[in-house]
Amino acid sequence: MPASTLDSLVSLCKRRGFIFPGSEIYGGLANTWDYGPLGAELKNRVKREWWKTFIHKRPDMVGLDASILMNKKVWEASGHISAFSDPLVECKKCKQRFRGDKLLEPKIGVEAAAILKLEQVQKMLQAEKISCPSCGSKDWTEAKKFNLMFKTHQGVIEDAAALVYLRPETAQGIFVNFKGIVDTMRKRLPFGVGQIGKAFRNEITPGNFTFRTREFEQMEIEYFFDPERTEWKKLFEEWKKQSWSFITDVIGIDAKHLRLRDHEKDELSHYSKGTTDIEFQFPFGWGELCAAVAYRTDFDLTKHEEVSGQDLHYTDPDDPTRKIIPHVMEPSFGTDRIVLAALLDAYTEEKLPNDETRVVMKLHPNIAPIDIAILPLSKKEHLINKAQELYKKIVQGTDLVVDFDITGSIGKRYRRQDEIGTPKCITVDFGTLGEDDKQGAKDTVTIRDRDTLIQERLTIAELASKLKVAG
Ligand code: GAP
Repeated sequence: MPASTLDSLVSLCKRRGFIFPGSEIYGGLANTWDYGPLGAELKNRVKREWWKTFIHKRPDMVGLDASILMNKKVWEASGHISAFSDPLVECKKCKQRFRGDKLLEPKIGVEAAAILKLEQVQKMLQAEKISCPSCGSKDWTEAKKFNLMFKTHQGVIEDAAALVYLRPETAQGIFVNFKGIVDTMRKRLPFGVGQIGKAFRNEITPGNFTFRTREFEQMEIEYFFDPERTEWKKLFEEWKKQSWSFITDVIGIDAKHLRLRDHEKDELSHYSKGTTDIEFQFPFGWGELCAAVAYRTDFDLTKHEEVSGQDLHYTDPDDPTRKIIPHVMEPSFGTDRIVLAALLDAYTEEKLPNDETRVVMKLHPNIAPIDIAILPLSKKEHLINKAQELYKKIVQGTDLVVDFDITGSIGKRYRRQDEIGTPKCITVDFGTLGEDDKQGAKDTVTIRDRDTLIQERLTIAELASKLKVAG
């Protein structure tokens, strides 16, 4: 994928209302982005598909919506206060700060950069002659641990007792509610809990559009199991497949742009015994799209039991004398990265037979922000009324999202719908009204397919049955 695709996409996203720079009328706030009307639809659809796939369609899963602010002991127990940090280096000349491992990645590779010890970072920067991206100097400080959690205070007094963190992952909300879920939902192991929500990380070097931001959304699953009854390696492989299938079959990202990557031992997070990422080929190189699965063992529940003093054991329903701390598989999806990858994957420039270029977003129909556009051929009032009738019928009789567009020539309107990824356009013309046989028979409309450009003439009744319009 050429590097210029990202610039073209950023510009399309702004022009068409997918993603705007954050706080723009005030000159912006670096690396913040707002989802516009179409971006919000797209992102909601990704979340809806995720919830449907992993929560509604599985008898072994339930959902949760936990708070962003949590007791700070949660982060002490989870290890985030002591271990959730990146290596921060400062350029001695211009005083700009960077993530040492990220500066080294282009030279030594992602895997090698990820396993560097803190004390190796400065030496490696010097050995590899890495220049400061800001002033070009090669004089670096020693790397320091920089904790990525955002701090704030709860209530009116800003002292240490009131200190709280914005959650850096949604996962902990699931662990601290484990007991409540077991007690109320009568689930037997293995079962999973999924949740969607915001997470915050004070990233040292955010960037590449919405790829790395400080506020983002996650869709996470903690799948609890009894390691004596379920073999972890088998479950690990199953989750890898399920995560891959969600990204390719449900979201529709082309498998050619994806790969699985196992974490090196030294690269694993403090809680993980094995992690496999799904990576996407971004215009700036291969990058983590999501953690297909991480084996978190019994690390979190054990720690929470230790720090909270609460009994978080699960009682085996077949043998009530047997109490265990379940182990956990964790597939963790970043919603914003999936949206970005889906947009990049869908972005297509095509040469038409008339030598014009059309930009078309070939988004999977599951996630396209608009399902159908209704386009009256002209602005004549009786034609618009007929098209409005059809619009109301589809909106009221289905769950489809329908756009109604009368501005500009029909060609321009098709281009606009192509650029926002609308899979089907329906044109209502004078044939539909019974006023022009050349355009088509009375009560028929044209349906145009976004990808093939094939136009089909159907009666309104055939169309209604194809779209499963109720009533
Ligand atoms: N609970 C495990 C966990 O949080 P992670 O690999 O740190 O694992 C999971 O994050 C996913 O969250 C990533 O694969 C990515 O999609 C998304 N993510 C993480 N940091 C992000 C950031 N700064 N900006 C956007 N998305 C991010």
